[in-house]
Amino acid sequence: MAVSDGALLAIGDLHVEHPENRELVQRLEPQTAADWLIVCGDVADRIEDVEWALGLLRERFATVIWAPGNHELLSHDDDPPELRGERRYRHLVEACRRLGVLTPEDPYPIWDGLGGPARVVPLFLLYDYSFGANVGATPAEALERAYEAGVVCVDEFLLHPDPYPSRAAWCEARVRQTEQRLAEVEPVLPAVLVNHFPLIAEPTRVLRYPEFAQWCGTVRTADWHRRFRARAVVYGHLHIPRTTWHDGVRFEEVSMGYPRERRGWGGGPRAPRRILPEVAHA
Ligand SMILES: [Fe+2]
Ligand SMILES: [Fe+2]
Repeated sequence: MAVSDGALLAIGDLHVEHPENRELVQRLEPQTAADWLIVCGDVADRIEDVEWALGLLRERFATVIWAPGNHELLSHDDDPPELRGERRYRHLVEACRRLGVLTPEDPYPIWDGLGGPARVVPLFLLYDYSFGANVGATPAEALERAYEAGVVCVDEFLLHPDPYPSRAAWCEARVRQTEQRLAEVEPVLPAVLVNHFPLIAEPTRVLRYPEFAQWCGTVRTADWHRRFRARAVVYGHLHIPRTTWHDGVRFEEVSMGYPRERRGWGGGPRAPRRILPEVAHA
Protein backbone atom coordinates (compact mmCIF):
# COMPACT_ATOMS: atom_id res chain seq x y z
CA MET A 1 0.00 0.00 0.00
CA ALA A 2 1.40 3.39 -0.95
CA VAL A 3 1.57 5.84 1.94
CA SER A 4 -0.74 8.31 0.19
CA ASP A 5 -3.57 5.84 -0.33
CA GLY A 6 -5.22 6.26 3.01
CA ALA A 7 -7.04 3.78 5.20
CA LEU A 8 -10.36 3.43 6.97
CA LEU A 9 -9.43 3.24 10.66
CA ALA A 10 -11.48 2.67 13.80
CA ILE A 11 -11.21 3.20 17.53
CA GLY A 12 -13.71 3.34 20.38
CA ASP A 13 -14.14 3.83 24.11
CA LEU A 14 -11.77 6.77 24.35
CA HIS A 15 -13.16 7.73 27.79
CA VAL A 16 -11.19 10.96 27.74
CA GLU A 17 -12.01 11.95 31.32
CA HIS A 18 -9.08 9.73 32.19
CA PRO A 19 -5.98 11.95 31.79
CA GLU A 20 -3.93 9.11 30.25
CA ASN A 21 -6.61 8.57 27.63
CA ARG A 22 -6.88 12.29 26.94
CA GLU A 23 -3.17 12.31 26.28
CA LEU A 24 -3.43 9.33 23.93
CA VAL A 25 -6.20 11.07 21.99
CA GLN A 26 -4.06 14.20 21.80
CA ARG A 27 -1.38 12.08 20.15
CA LEU A 28 -3.70 10.31 17.68
CA GLU A 29 -2.49 11.22 14.21
CA PRO A 30 -3.44 9.90 10.78
CA GLN A 31 -0.75 8.17 8.75
CA THR A 32 -1.87 9.96 5.59
CA ALA A 33 -4.04 12.97 4.76
CA ALA A 34 -6.60 10.58 3.23
CA ASP A 35 -7.27 8.52 6.39
CA TRP A 36 -10.80 8.27 7.77
CA LEU A 37 -11.48 7.55 11.43
CA ILE A 38 -14.49 5.73 12.89
CA VAL A 39 -15.09 6.56 16.57
CA CYS A 40 -17.54 4.02 17.86
CA GLY A 41 -18.80 5.48 21.11
CA ASP A 42 -17.91 6.13 24.75
CA VAL A 43 -15.85 9.17 23.80
CA ALA A 44 -16.64 10.68 27.22
CA ASP A 45 -19.47 11.24 29.72
CA ARG A 46 -19.53 15.04 29.46
CA ILE A 47 -20.67 16.77 26.32
CA GLU A 48 -17.81 19.28 26.42
CA ASP A 49 -15.30 16.40 26.52
CA VAL A 50 -17.05 14.65 23.62
CA GLU A 51 -16.86 17.87 21.59
CA TRP A 52 -13.22 18.42 22.50
CA ALA A 53 -12.16 14.93 21.34
CA LEU A 54 -14.26 14.78 18.17
CA GLY A 55 -13.29 18.36 17.22
CA LEU A 56 -9.60 17.58 17.59
CA LEU A 57 -9.87 14.37 15.57
CA ARG A 58 -11.89 16.11 12.88
CA GLU A 59 -9.07 18.61 12.40
CA ARG A 60 -6.66 15.75 11.73
CA PHE A 61 -8.59 13.09 9.80
CA ALA A 62 -10.17 13.57 6.38
CA THR A 63 -13.50 12.20 7.66
CA VAL A 64 -14.64 11.32 11.17
CA ILE A 65 -17.65 9.09 11.77
CA TRP A 66 -19.22 8.77 15.22
CA ALA A 67 -21.70 6.28 16.67
CA PRO A 68 -22.84 6.99 20.25
CA GLY A 69 -21.94 4.81 23.21
CA ASN A 70 -23.85 4.53 26.44
CA HIS A 71 -21.46 6.94 28.18
CA GLU A 72 -22.30 9.95 25.97
CA LEU A 73 -25.94 9.35 26.94
CA LEU A 74 -25.48 9.34 30.71
CA SER A 75 -27.16 12.33 32.37
CA HIS A 76 -25.71 13.68 35.55
CA ASP A 77 -27.65 15.47 38.31
CA ASP A 78 -26.41 18.86 37.20
CA ASP A 79 -27.41 18.33 33.56
CA PRO A 80 -30.56 20.21 32.50
CA PRO A 81 -33.64 18.09 31.64
CA GLU A 82 -33.24 18.85 27.93
CA LEU A 83 -30.04 16.84 28.03
CA ARG A 84 -31.73 13.54 28.84
CA GLY A 85 -32.54 10.59 26.58
CA GLU A 86 -33.48 11.23 22.97
CA ARG A 87 -32.92 14.98 23.38
CA ARG A 88 -29.42 14.40 24.63
CA TYR A 89 -28.74 12.22 21.60
CA ARG A 90 -30.12 14.90 19.25
CA HIS A 91 -28.02 17.54 21.01
CA LEU A 92 -24.90 15.42 20.39
CA VAL A 93 -25.86 14.97 16.73
CA GLU A 94 -26.15 18.76 16.37
CA ALA A 95 -22.75 19.22 18.03
CA CYS A 96 -21.25 16.73 15.55
CA ARG A 97 -22.79 18.62 12.65
CA ARG A 98 -21.18 21.83 13.84
CA LEU A 99 -17.86 20.01 14.02
CA GLY A 100 -18.27 18.32 10.63
CA VAL A 101 -18.44 14.82 12.16
CA LEU A 102 -20.81 12.26 10.60
CA THR A 103 -23.43 10.52 12.77
CA PRO A 104 -26.09 7.81 12.37
CA GLU A 105 -28.47 10.58 11.28
CA ASP A 106 -26.48 11.51 8.17
CA PRO A 107 -26.36 9.87 4.73
CA TYR A 108 -24.03 6.89 4.97
CA PRO A 109 -20.64 7.88 3.52
CA ILE A 110 -18.88 5.69 0.98
CA TRP A 111 -15.26 4.70 1.56
CA ASP A 112 -13.78 4.81 -1.90
CA GLY A 113 -10.12 4.31 -0.98
CA LEU A 114 -8.19 1.06 -1.01
CA GLY A 115 -10.33 -1.94 -0.09
CA GLY A 116 -13.47 0.00 -1.10
CA PRO A 117 -15.94 0.94 -2.20
CA ALA A 118 -17.91 0.22 0.95
CA ARG A 119 -20.71 2.03 2.67
CA VAL A 120 -19.82 3.05 6.22
CA VAL A 121 -22.93 2.71 8.38
CA PRO A 122 -22.81 4.20 11.90
CA LEU A 123 -25.65 2.82 14.01
CA PHE A 124 -27.37 3.82 17.21
CA LEU A 125 -29.36 0.84 18.49
CA LEU A 126 -28.77 0.61 22.25
CA TYR A 127 -29.73 -2.71 23.96
CA ASP A 128 -32.85 -4.44 25.15
CA TYR A 129 -31.55 -6.86 27.81
CA SER A 130 -32.10 -9.87 25.52
CA PHE A 131 -28.41 -10.88 25.83
CA GLY A 132 -29.24 -11.48 29.51
CA ALA A 133 -30.56 -14.93 28.56
CA ASN A 134 -27.07 -16.17 29.53
CA VAL A 135 -27.84 -15.61 33.23
CA GLY A 136 -31.65 -15.59 33.56
CA ALA A 137 -34.73 -17.01 31.85
CA THR A 138 -36.40 -13.57 31.74
CA PRO A 139 -35.01 -10.01 31.70
CA ALA A 140 -36.30 -9.52 35.25
CA GLU A 141 -34.48 -12.64 36.44
CA ALA A 142 -31.27 -11.65 34.64
CA LEU A 143 -31.38 -8.21 36.25
CA GLU A 144 -31.95 -9.78 39.66
CA ARG A 145 -28.88 -11.99 39.13
CA ALA A 146 -26.86 -8.91 38.21
CA TYR A 147 -27.87 -7.14 41.41
CA GLU A 148 -27.04 -10.26 43.45
CA ALA A 149 -23.62 -10.44 41.80
CA GLY A 150 -23.03 -6.69 42.28
CA VAL A 151 -22.52 -6.27 38.52
CA VAL A 152 -24.94 -3.49 37.58
CA CYS A 153 -24.24 -1.17 34.67
CA VAL A 154 -24.20 2.55 35.53
CA ASP A 155 -26.86 3.02 32.82
CA GLU A 156 -29.49 1.71 35.25
CA PHE A 157 -29.11 4.96 37.18
CA LEU A 158 -27.95 7.52 34.64
CA LEU A 159 -29.04 6.54 31.11
CA HIS A 160 -32.55 7.97 30.93
CA PRO A 161 -34.66 6.82 27.99
CA ASP A 162 -37.01 9.84 27.81
CA PRO A 163 -39.46 10.08 26.10
CA TYR A 164 -39.49 6.28 25.85
CA PRO A 165 -40.76 4.30 28.83
CA SER A 166 -37.58 2.18 28.99
CA ARG A 167 -34.19 1.67 27.40
CA ALA A 168 -35.58 -1.50 25.79
CA ALA A 169 -38.40 0.52 24.18
CA TRP A 170 -35.89 3.09 22.90
CA CYS A 171 -33.83 0.23 21.47
CA GLU A 172 -36.87 -1.25 19.76
CA ALA A 173 -37.71 2.07 18.11
CA ARG A 174 -34.12 2.56 16.92
CA VAL A 175 -33.90 -1.01 15.54
CA ARG A 176 -37.18 -0.59 13.67
CA GLN A 177 -36.26 2.79 12.13
CA THR A 178 -32.74 1.68 11.24
CA GLU A 179 -33.87 -1.61 9.72
CA GLN A 180 -36.24 0.29 7.47
CA ARG A 181 -33.56 2.76 6.44
CA LEU A 182 -31.05 0.00 5.67
CA ALA A 183 -33.62 -1.91 3.62
CA GLU A 184 -33.99 1.19 1.43
CA VAL A 185 -30.26 1.57 0.74
CA GLU A 186 -29.31 0.24 -2.67
CA PRO A 187 -27.89 -3.24 -2.24
CA VAL A 188 -24.83 -3.21 -4.49
CA LEU A 189 -22.16 -1.94 -2.09
CA PRO A 190 -20.91 -3.93 0.87
CA ALA A 191 -21.20 -2.26 4.29
CA VAL A 192 -18.96 -1.56 7.23
CA LEU A 193 -21.44 -1.69 10.11
CA VAL A 194 -20.44 0.42 13.13
CA ASN A 195 -22.23 0.10 16.44
CA HIS A 196 -21.05 0.71 19.99
CA PHE A 197 -22.61 -2.59 21.08
CA PRO A 198 -21.82 -5.91 19.38
CA LEU A 199 -24.51 -6.87 16.87
CA ILE A 200 -24.36 -10.49 17.98
CA ALA A 201 -24.16 -12.09 21.43
CA GLU A 202 -21.09 -14.29 20.83
CA PRO A 203 -18.49 -11.64 21.77
CA THR A 204 -20.15 -11.23 25.19
CA ARG A 205 -19.43 -14.87 26.05
CA VAL A 206 -15.90 -13.97 27.08
CA LEU A 207 -16.99 -11.26 29.53
CA ARG A 208 -15.36 -11.56 32.90
CA TYR A 209 -18.75 -10.89 34.51
CA PRO A 210 -21.42 -12.68 32.42
CA GLU A 211 -24.18 -10.66 34.13
CA PHE A 212 -22.99 -7.60 32.17
CA ALA A 213 -24.09 -9.09 28.82
CA GLN A 214 -27.67 -7.79 29.26
CA TRP A 215 -26.38 -4.23 28.72
CA CYS A 216 -24.50 -5.17 25.57
CA GLY A 217 -26.90 -5.44 22.62
CA THR A 218 -30.01 -7.02 21.22
CA VAL A 219 -30.76 -10.39 19.60
CA ARG A 220 -32.76 -8.48 16.99
CA THR A 221 -29.56 -7.65 15.07
CA ALA A 222 -28.25 -11.24 15.06
CA ASP A 223 -28.40 -11.57 11.27
CA TRP A 224 -27.60 -7.98 10.24
CA HIS A 225 -24.03 -8.75 9.24
CA ARG A 226 -25.39 -11.23 6.68
CA ARG A 227 -28.54 -9.35 5.72
CA PHE A 228 -26.79 -6.05 5.08
CA ARG A 229 -23.71 -7.52 3.33
CA ALA A 230 -21.14 -6.52 5.92
CA ARG A 231 -17.49 -6.56 4.91
CA ALA A 232 -16.69 -5.83 8.54
CA VAL A 233 -18.50 -5.03 11.78
CA VAL A 234 -16.88 -2.51 14.14
CA TYR A 235 -17.88 -2.30 17.80
CA GLY A 236 -16.57 -1.48 21.27
CA HIS A 237 -18.22 -1.33 24.72
CA LEU A 238 -16.79 -4.64 25.96
CA HIS A 239 -13.26 -3.26 26.35
CA ILE A 240 -11.96 -6.55 24.97
CA PRO A 241 -10.09 -5.50 21.82
CA ARG A 242 -9.79 -8.40 19.35
CA THR A 243 -10.75 -9.71 15.93
CA THR A 244 -13.24 -12.55 15.53
CA TRP A 245 -15.02 -14.07 12.53
CA HIS A 246 -18.70 -14.95 12.36
CA ASP A 247 -20.28 -16.41 9.21
CA GLY A 248 -17.15 -15.33 7.35
CA VAL A 249 -17.55 -11.67 8.46
CA ARG A 250 -14.80 -9.91 10.38
CA PHE A 251 -15.85 -8.37 13.71
CA GLU A 252 -13.44 -5.84 15.21
CA GLU A 253 -13.64 -4.77 18.86
CA VAL A 254 -11.64 -1.54 18.84
CA SER A 255 -11.78 -0.22 22.43
CA MET A 256 -9.03 1.98 23.77
CA GLY A 257 -10.36 1.08 27.23
CA TYR A 258 -9.39 2.38 30.67
CA PRO A 259 -5.74 2.86 31.67
CA ARG A 260 -5.88 0.04 34.25
CA GLU A 261 -7.27 -2.34 31.62
CA ARG A 262 -4.53 -1.52 29.15
CA ARG A 263 -1.91 -2.33 31.77
CA GLY A 264 -3.55 -5.78 32.08
CA TRP A 265 -3.54 -6.28 28.30
CA GLY A 266 0.20 -5.59 28.05
CA GLY A 267 1.71 -4.05 24.95
CA GLY A 268 1.71 -0.39 24.01
CA PRO A 269 -1.11 2.13 23.87
CA ARG A 270 -4.04 1.28 21.64
CA ALA A 271 -3.78 2.60 18.11
CA PRO A 272 -6.74 2.78 15.73
CA ARG A 273 -7.42 -0.53 13.96
CA ARG A 274 -7.29 -0.73 10.19
CA ILE A 275 -10.65 -1.80 8.80
CA LEU A 276 -9.99 -1.22 5.08
CA PRO A 277 -7.97 -2.14 3.17
CA GLU A 278 -8.12 -5.53 4.86
CA VAL A 279 -5.03 -6.77 6.60
CA ALA A 280 -4.10 -10.21 5.28
CA HIS A 281 -5.05 -12.86 7.82
CA ALA A 282 -3.16 -16.11 8.04
FE1 LIG B 1 -16.55 2.01 27.18
FE1 LIG C 1 -19.98 1.40 26.51
